[in-house]
Amino acid sequence: TALLIFWGVLGYLLGSIPFGMVLARVMGLGNLRTIGSGNIGATNVLRTGNKTAAALTLLLDGAKGAVAVLLARAMAGEDAAQLAGLMAMLGHCYPVWLRFNGGKGVATFLGILLALAWPVGLGCCAAWLIGALTSRISSVGALAAASASTFLMVVFGAGQALLLGAVLTLLVFWRHRGNIKRIKAGTEPRIGKAA
Ligand code: G3P
Repeated sequence: TALLIFWGVLGYLLGSIPFGMVLARVMGLGNLRTIGSGNIGATNVLRTGNKTAAALTLLLDGAKGAVAVLLARAMAGEDAAQLAGLMAMLGHCYPVWLRFNGGKGVATFLGILLALAWPVGLGCCAAWLIGALTSRISSVGALAAASASTFLMVVFGAGQALLLGAVLTLLVFWRHRGNIKRIKAGTEPRIGKAA
């Protein structure tokens, strides 16, 4: 149990690093809270106009989820890996450093899935691309990726991660509730456009 708690805490701490926020500040792009949607993710970093910063945010926010899972798995096994993944997602969405007001978890979700079961992760990345390219809306890609995950877990026989996948999917939807309202109202901004 002590070991599991350790991996849970480590996952949370990794997930809670707000790379978008840090990069935007370090690269002199301003405070993300006052830009676009106010979110700390790559989509909102792109609204600063800096593609490199957005790509780095996507990569690092994804990597922290993947690293949490892979480290925990290598050192403590599958249960620890799943817990570390869940906690990394919670860390990203509810980081103590930002008064528990964090991101929407899409990049971290994809990173966790790639590490847990890479075919599922790849499939979800593809679902994101299809959703985002057809709509030109990032949150539509996010919801497509989240929706595809459970189905893909069944298809690729990653059933041991089904419960975790379902929880992560619900969390992505929950964090996008504002976006979902805007999508329905037809006011959700296109990728790269100000929110
Ligand atoms: O990754 C979050 C994305 O799906 C939506 O971001 O800034 O448009 O709310 P944003």
